[in-house]
Amino acid sequence: MVSSVRERKNGEVLLTVSDMTKTFGPVTALKNVGMTLKRGDVLGLIGENGSGKSTVSSIIAGMQTADSGNMTFLGEKWEPQSMLDALENGVGMIVQESGTIAGVSVAENIFLGELSQFSKFGIVNRKNLNEAANSVLRNIGVENVTGEMPMAALDFQARKLIEIAKVVMKEPEILIVDETTTALSQHGREVLYKIIDRYRAENRAVIFISHDLDEILEVCDTLTVLRDGNMIRTFEKSEFDADDIRTSMIGREMQGDYYRSDFVPTREDEIALKVDNVVVSGHVNGVSVEVHRGEILGIGGLSHCGMHTLGKVMFGAVAPDSGKVVLSDGTEVKNEFVAMKKMLGYVSKDRDNESLILSASVKDNIAVAGMEKYAVNNFIILDGREKKYVDGQIDSLSIKCSSRNQAVQTLSGGNKQKVVFGKWVGRGSEILILDCPTRGVDIGVKQAMYQLMVKLKGEGKSIVMISEELPELIGMSDRLVIMKDGKVTKEFQRSKDLSDAEIIKYMI
Ligand SMILES: Nc1ncnc2c1ncn2[C@@H]1O[C@H](COP(=O)(O)OP(=O)(O)OP(=O)(O)O)[C@@H](O)[C@H]1O
Ligand SMILES: [Mg+2]
Repeated sequence: MVSSVRERKNGEVLLTVSDMTKTFGPVTALKNVGMTLKRGDVLGLIGENGSGKSTVSSIIAGMQTADSGNMTFLGEKWEPQSMLDALENGVGMIVQESGTIAGVSVAENIFLGELSQFSKFGIVNRKNLNEAANSVLRNIGVENVTGEMPMAALDFQARKLIEIAKVVMKEPEILIVDETTTALSQHGREVLYKIIDRYRAENRAVIFISHDLDEILEVCDTLTVLRDGNMIRTFEKSEFDADDIRTSMIGREMQGDYYRSDFVPTREDEIALKVDNVVVSGHVNGVSVEVHRGEILGIGGLSHCGMHTLGKVMFGAVAPDSGKVVLSDGTEVKNEFVAMKKMLGYVSKDRDNESLILSASVKDNIAVAGMEKYAVNNFIILDGREKKYVDGQIDSLSIKCSSRNQAVQTLSGGNKQKVVFGKWVGRGSEILILDCPTRGVDIGVKQAMYQLMVKLKGEGKSIVMISEELPELIGMSDRLVIMKDGKVTKEFQRSKDLSDAEIIKYMI
């Protein structure tokens, strides 16, 4: 590997990209993009959803090729043939969308394509394989996952940590981290930040993509802004200014409030949904909460506190071992069919596996939940009405797609999330259960989503927002329930004085 034969000199140019262009049919994802990455640098990439961040990164990492342009790595032409080729030669990327395989074990995922080093006469030595995987995981600070575990048994965050381990194990000179932190809770983030700090200290380099401006300002040394496939500007650390960066991202100043502007908790008297002493073994340990009409109920906690499971129980997607979820008319939400019929909507944290049909079009994904809105007698689908319905959602959330027929899997990460949101909101859901709804969504669209939530609240709808981001919980909730170890530990009312510090005490 390159690293072993060269001294790592701070400031040495590692990678250059010049004049890079990439189109997908009618979409121009990158236009004459250029950048330089030096040793010891943590370079942030920021830009709206669909601005080209993942595209440029994935070309650098060998996942796809550009239409035109040049790259150099350590002074030589850089033309990786595949991600594996890039990784073997010093450039590794933790991809935005799921990069692990569900059907096999953790260790097999980590050593995918390299099992031969653990086998003799074609038989894999499981013990050695698992031990090697364990040591890779412990090395980056992951404690509670072991090599023999089946991938399918891991949650979203643990799967992400496996991806990180798999790439970092190869000790690339350049590590690209694409929108990974939103999939991680505090512990997972710390694992990643530690790796990034080490890369800086060792004079390697990192390209870090995130929509969290505060995080980017904290983690990065320089910051490059992309807009519609164009490189707009690079900010040096001394020039970091949140407003300037936002303006250069969206091409204008942000107008209006980001979160809700009022600080008075309001709701209607009617209880829309009641969670009654729900137990899900190992996850939820006797939780009761009520959601009123016209209320935004926030649920916060660390990622394993049970709140994500609770969201699934509310939508009937997970059956509790005991306890129940009941609606205002007495209906028990026993399964998703009942939930759908009763106009509940659910945005899952794990959108690729639980919320979207990836191979289907934007149109079909949005239309699937909203049929009663556009079909005559809930039965006859008139093409024109369906299209109009779908286009309405594409417009209102500014979903960036070349047409309503574009396959969802080819949308940028944040635009996928908008499709999920549009699917349920457009349907007119009375109760919306949103699990990390703004994950991977850019600030402009986040603002639009928050405004939409306030509007829905005003219409008497109920919103449950499960989130790992305290600012949005504080910013949006009428009431905020905090969970820890499967139990509710505290409830806060909306107030101007609510602070992170006060809440965190009840989370850990
Ligand atoms: N395989 C593909 N087929 C068609 N269009 C694509 C494909 N891959 C990317 N695009 C389009 O290229 C544009 C740039 O996408 P990219 O994924 O780079 O955005 P991004 O900046 O990473 O956004 P996000 O913040 O939402 O992840 C988008 O309009 C996207 O729909
Ligand atoms: Mg992306």
